[in-house]
Amino acid sequence: MAENHTPTLITQTHPKSAAAEAFRTLRTNISFSALDRPVQSLLVTSAGPGEGKSTTTCNLAVVMAQTGSRVLVLDCDLRKPTMHKVFDLDNRRGLTSVLVEGLDPAEVISPTLAAGLSVLTSGPLPPNPAELLGSGRMRDLLARLVAEHDIVLIDTPPVLAVTDAAVLAPQVDAAVLVARAGVTRLDMMQEAKTSLGKTGVHLLGAVLNGLRPESDGYYYYYHYKYYYGQHNGEGNNRG
Ligand SMILES: Nc1ncnc2c1ncn2[C@@H]1O[C@H](COP(=O)(O)OP(=O)(O)O)[C@@H](O)[C@H]1O
Ligand SMILES: [Mg+2]
Repeated sequence: MAENHTPTLITQTHPKSAAAEAFRTLRTNISFSALDRPVQSLLVTSAGPGEGKSTTTCNLAVVMAQTGSRVLVLDCDLRKPTMHKVFDLDNRRGLTSVLVEGLDPAEVISPTLAAGLSVLTSGPLPPNPAELLGSGRMRDLLARLVAEHDIVLIDTPPVLAVTDAAVLAPQVDAAVLVARAGVTRLDMMQEAKTSLGKTGVHLLGAVLNGLRPESDGYYYYYHYKYYYGQHNGEGNNRG
């Protein structure tokens, strides 16, 4: 399957699929994660490209919105953004327009067909993504977006390719690391975990994408979450 293909909103097209069920399980795991307060900003990343960061972000957003939460998807992959394609939105203005031109986020956040789910697309690609994502403007924006929504889900580029996700990590409540069955090597996963660990972000766990049951006519996603249990000394050993 080509990496450039737009991620699928399987939670909308096939709400009764095993894949959609797996995303609901992931939602439950995140909402019960052992933090003292609800996770209001969640970074979704992975070691390499094509592992399912964007797929996880948009589908998790759909199932979170289905519980009545006000959910914002923030496309912080300013290198290969996909959220405007997933939700079929105009991307001439977006995050970078807010950060560079000072546009009011309210003007560029788009509602979607899913109730409670809005998207801030990437906007035009900038020459200096990491710098923008690490700016004071970005911090201020994130604080405002968090105040205006129940949860902000942040799609990012791969950790091992560029610093963008690591630059964002200190600004968010928590992160999940997506791995793709049969693609992500364990050493890459370890390296990504180490890089994120250095930022001090609370790593909730890993999401295993693309486990394919034997008797499968359609593709399935399956997400299995486990806790590293090494952050903040908390006993995160459910899973
Ligand atoms: N479990 C899966 N089964 C089939 N296709 C998948 C699966 N996960 C992702 N894909 C497809 O693989 C491609 C890359 O996924 P994507 O979520 O865009 O990865 P990333 O954002 O990490 O680069 C997309 O075309 C997506 O639809
Ligand atoms: Mg992506």
